[in-house]
Amino acid sequence: MSARSIMMAVVVALLCLPLGYATSRGESSNAKALREHYDLQDGKRLYEQYCRFCHGEQGKGKAYDVTPPPADLTSAAVQQKSDAELTQTIHEGERGTAMGSWKWELSEKDKQNILLYIRRLAR
Ligand code: HEC
Repeated sequence: MSARSIMMAVVVALLCLPLGYATSRGESSNAKALREHYDLQDGKRLYEQYCRFCHGEQGKGKAYDVTPPPADLTSAAVQQKSDAELTQTIHEGERGTAMGSWKWELSEKDKQNILLYIRRLAR
């Protein structure tokens, strides 16, 4: 191979780099979107199984008649709380209310997925 053709090969390779980079980025963001989609579906399924009974189909709360009433999960008061705070409440429950602890039923991943769904309900 001549020095010239080696140079050409290097130039071609360099030109292809950004293309390859863009393609792999495109794929990984698709994969991410897909994963989020499944996480959200899973959160919805879990929410309907465990939480809808009290917090209602749309998360507006008060689906079950207890005092204090089940929180409106779409309200600003709830939504402005951090993921950590809400996950903590789901994990531990709230003493003296109908909101029980879900630590035996739900894995860390389950709680994350439910939270993702609750955030989505508020939009
Ligand atoms: C038996 C009824 C009941 C069920 C089932 C239930 N909750 Fe609750 N939840 C409540 C009540 C009542 C409150 C309000 C407690 C209060 O006023 O302090 C509450 C509060 C909450 C809060 C706290 C809101 C805030 O202001 O910080 C979150 C988050 C929450 N529930 C999520 C869930 C999730 C997720 C599930 C399903 C895994 C669930 N709840 C199932 C009754 C229930």
